[in-house]
Amino acid sequence: MDSILILDFGSQYTQLIARRVRELNTYAEIKPWNGDWRTLLDTPAEDDALGRRWKGVILSGSPHSVRDADAPSPDLVGVRGRWPLLGVCFGAQWLAQFGGGLVEASDSREYGRAHLTRVDTGDRLFAGMSEGKQVWMSHGDTIQGVGAGARVTCSTADVEYAGFTYETEPTWGIQFHPEVYHSEEGLTLLRNFVHGICGCAADWTPAHFVDTTIEELKEKLAGDHVVLGLSGGVDSSVAAMLLHRAIGDRLHCIFVDNGLLRKHEFEEVLEGYEGMGLNVKGVRASERFYYALSGKTDPEAKRKAIGATFIEVFDEESNMLEGVKWLGQGTIYPDVIESVSATGGPSATIKSHHNVGGLPDFMKLEVVEPLRMLFKDEVRRVGREMGIDPQLLGRHPFPGPGLGIRILGEVTPEKVQLLQEADRIWIDKLKDHGHYDRVWQAGTILLPVQSVGVMGDERTYEQAVALRAVTSTDGMTADWVDFPHAFLAEVSNAIINKVRGINRVVYDISSKPPATIEWE
Ligand code: XMP
Repeated sequence: MDSILILDFGSQYTQLIARRVRELNTYAEIKPWNGDWRTLLDTPAEDDALGRRWKGVILSGSPHSVRDADAPSPDLVGVRGRWPLLGVCFGAQWLAQFGGGLVEASDSREYGRAHLTRVDTGDRLFAGMSEGKQVWMSHGDTIQGVGAGARVTCSTADVEYAGFTYETEPTWGIQFHPEVYHSEEGLTLLRNFVHGICGCAADWTPAHFVDTTIEELKEKLAGDHVVLGLSGGVDSSVAAMLLHRAIGDRLHCIFVDNGLLRKHEFEEVLEGYEGMGLNVKGVRASERFYYALSGKTDPEAKRKAIGATFIEVFDEESNMLEGVKWLGQGTIYPDVIESVSATGGPSATIKSHHNVGGLPDFMKLEVVEPLRMLFKDEVRRVGREMGIDPQLLGRHPFPGPGLGIRILGEVTPEKVQLLQEADRIWIDKLKDHGHYDRVWQAGTILLPVQSVGVMGDERTYEQAVALRAVTSTDGMTADWVDFPHAFLAEVSNAIINKVRGINRVVYDISSKPPATIEWE
């Protein structure tokens, strides 16, 4: 498949470049600038396991200045002129600085919106674009000269060299970020580069991914058996469906009830999985989790207890299966991209708590991760392609430790039950009022306080819950959702009237940062 290689210099936007290229249905992959990407680029598609045919290279932005002594300095000899090249922000400044031009600290740091003037729409990169469109800038340096053989292709009111290209090689530089939504014609520019200039086909589609992945899995797993822990979430479910299509009942799924799921979730999700034809075993293990949690109040200690118990249960269950050689996991691309650390060397970003328990050494299983090259939105598209229930695909993310980290302090079965009741009302109301799909994640938190209330003629002294609902794209940053007060009042009334033991409801209006999404 036609592919674009993105060399990463550590910009916060690098992943976004890859996502945008993939939105254009062309495969893109990120590699640290100081890793071994040359071997990859030199490998012909016929010899590559994924069949990647490299047709162009993008240089990302960076927190570094090209003027720093320790700034990244890629070796592009043999790349320039052979593949079309697009330098973005730092990438463009690097091309200018080391191409006979000049980069200096700008008088005013250039952040935020600017408007393109003098766009050379005769240049292939700007085909179909127009002047005056907003672009997004984010840099402290600015290009003051581009060197011989280069010409300016666009400017803004403050930046003369907003874009440039060379007469003798297919290399372009742009100082703005086409990948961010705020750049109005950014996607057009990327399309011009990827499809127009690099000549990539739009062959990265969910259907293509499903077909090729199933073929690969069939070959890789041959007659083997695989065990996979389902969580009820999108990633593990889509991974399971791909494996199921490849090896049928040789995929053994395990869905553990840790006693910290939402109300009736275990039964409902299990039924859904069985409906999908999965070979799944539901394991009720609430008591073991409650036992492990008893007396624990520290959030990290609770997480550890839940994680360790999960591994115990999972290991026992998989040991009961004969001849299992592989562990299937729903790991996705953001969890495996090697990131460029601010100090230089490549380092792996692995959010271990996002994988179902991780792989303990003693299990001695090989790992198969069919989604490891996909972003979350692509996982959903693949799920849709395979006909997975849209309700399952649209589910909010739910943390592995579940309600265990939404009950502040010690977890008891009684508290779980109380929170489940309140949580069910909150989620049902979000759905009834059409809010669920525009919220990224929602939940209820049981607070470790009691407060005085009055019901009828009686004084009450009961617990409080906090409601949380946020918008986000990846959970790294988030904002609270500004619901109509009447809606919040309806939810509050319903919870206080229906859930005995709760007499006060508050709504969390903290953004992340500085708060986090979960309270623990
Ligand atoms: P925070 O609270 O860090 O949450 O803003 C960001 C996202 O991560 C989820 N989260 C977890 N998921 N195990 C998980 O599987 C955990 O221990 C954990 N802690 C937080 C959280 O629900 C949100 O989506």
